[in-house]
Amino acid sequence: RRKVTIQYLNQLRKAGTPITMVTAYDYPTGRACETHGVDITLVGDSLAQVCLGYDSTTRLTLDEMIHHCRAVARGSKSPFLVADMPFGSYHVNTDEAVRNAIRMVREGGVEGVKIEASFEGVEIIRKLTSIGIPVMAHVGLMPQRHTFFSGYRVQGRTAACALEIAQGARALQEAGAFAIVLEAIPRLLGMYITKQLDIPTIGIGAGVHTDGQVLVWDDLMSVWGGHKAKFVRQFGDVKSAVESGLKGYTKAVRERSFPDDAESYSMPDEEWEKFLK
Ligand code: KIV
Ligand code: NA
Repeated sequence: RRKVTIQYLNQLRKAGTPITMVTAYDYPTGRACETHGVDITLVGDSLAQVCLGYDSTTRLTLDEMIHHCRAVARGSKSPFLVADMPFGSYHVNTDEAVRNAIRMVREGGVEGVKIEASFEGVEIIRKLTSIGIPVMAHVGLMPQRHTFFSGYRVQGRTAACALEIAQGARALQEAGAFAIVLEAIPRLLGMYITKQLDIPTIGIGAGVHTDGQVLVWDDLMSVWGGHKAKFVRQFGDVKSAVESGLKGYTKAVRERSFPDDAESYSMPDEEWEKFLK
């Protein structure tokens, strides 16, 4: 597979070829992104919920994120590899954001970092970009701020709010972001921002007109039951595969139909006779 670079992502955007991005949290999911032609692998901080069982991405530590980045990086080589900077790791000041982004690149092995921010992210993005760390911006619904926004809600449904998101996106491009995630915004706003910008836009719940799409692995593979966001489509059915696999296994063990002779080792009869004596 050819290595995906920022230049290649821009070529895709110019050619109107949709960019595919998916989250990965460990070596096997990283391998799957490598093997099946994904353009961008994202170690999303959704890791907190879908892999580690936390109730919010705000619980995730930088050390935990780096631990998972290392595993994904060992499997995902060709896709461009990006990871979320965890909540709190880029908020205190620019120096600390730089120090933490460097750890993600050096220890985690990622190629770029993603931050959830509008105008307030300009300074950090300018600084990280200036020292050669590519930054993907993330606007619209920012899950790290779910408490502030009273839940995970669609953003930019009023003209004023839409304008603020669009202007913020432009400011982040000017600051040097190499791409931008648009989460949970109206389809027309997703189209408008995509037309307005020169960097790739990657949508999740932002309609079909963005330069690319991203979904959380566990959502698109249907790893869990329960609430499904409006923007999720289930392309796989891991939940059913796990259910039938585990039911079959536990049943076979309990009725002693597993393992059978072909799944067991044997020894020469004469050796067994000797053993018994
Ligand atoms: O953490 C995540 O999975 C994300 C994507 C959904 C964009 O930020
Ligand atoms: Na995220």
